[in-house]
Amino acid sequence: MTASHRHLLQIEGMHPPQIEMMLDLAESYVLLNRSGKTQRDLLRGRTLINLFFEDSTRTRTSFELAGKRLGADVINMSVSNSSVNKGETLLDTAATLNAMMCDLLVVRHAQSGAPNLLAQKVDAAVINAGDGTHEHPTQALLDALTIRRRKGRLQGLIVAICGDVLHSRVARSNIHLLSAMGAIVRVVGPKTLIPAECARLGVEVFHDMTKGIAGADVVMMLRLQRERMSGGLVPSAREYFRFYGLDFEKLGNAKKDAIIMHPGPMNRGVEIDSAVADDPVRSVIKEQVEMGVAVRMAVLDILSRESRRNV
Ligand code: ASP
Ligand code: CP
Repeated sequence: MTASHRHLLQIEGMHPPQIEMMLDLAESYVLLNRSGKTQRDLLRGRTLINLFFEDSTRTRTSFELAGKRLGADVINMSVSNSSVNKGETLLDTAATLNAMMCDLLVVRHAQSGAPNLLAQKVDAAVINAGDGTHEHPTQALLDALTIRRRKGRLQGLIVAICGDVLHSRVARSNIHLLSAMGAIVRVVGPKTLIPAECARLGVEVFHDMTKGIAGADVVMMLRLQRERMSGGLVPSAREYFRFYGLDFEKLGNAKKDAIIMHPGPMNRGVEIDSAVADDPVRSVIKEQVEMGVAVRMAVLDILSRESRRNV
């Protein structure tokens, strides 16, 4: 995505300078947010609609906050109370919002590719807030910003992405971003939860958690996304935790100063032990949430530049 790109649909295909530009801008928004100031003139008169067909706490709230801090009119469309329930299609719903002169459409959908489809049909800038198992681009950007702030770089770091990689759009976006920025990416999980495409993506695959996180600078845990599983891909939660849950014993194999990440929502005691998740020094899970607001402000800022030029 550059200033001339209208939408943010995926990380795949983004170049390092574009990613760095986004992260640098987001960094300036971290400072603005911490100072308690806002920049309400930037998106004044612009309308942002959150259109979430799947549940969300962090992404939807932070897009709302980001839009408001930049002065946009923000509408959270409640899909569960909408005319989608009367049989209206995704495309007709989007066309309806388009006719209301929406400028920024933030979309989360269970179908991979849904935001790409909408981007071809509406005038608004479309932002992918997570589509099926495809991508969650703003999550990868906020993860990268969190890592860069803690480690000072991305290049050369060993990042172990652990758990349900198969169903994770977070993993996919992170693999693209971190690989593009020169990090060494590993995926760790049971055979049933590691997609075959990992080999093509050039990441190292581990089925043994101890080996997978050995020497890692970053350990990123993923939730078991049961809503996308059709059969029994994992044993009981207890057994899963025994082999793939992050506790201090397994973490002992990572670098001493390794940071612990999780995109949220967490299932404590399933993929991560509570004490690890709440470790005040090594867990950066709350920082990830903070970075999410700054990254989304940067994304809204950049995407609205194009239309600001046309006013
Ligand atoms: N919140 C993230 C997503 O929507 C990760 C998850 O749900 O486990 O992809
Ligand atoms: N990380 C993430 O996307 O969280 P939500 O599903 O709560 O938005």
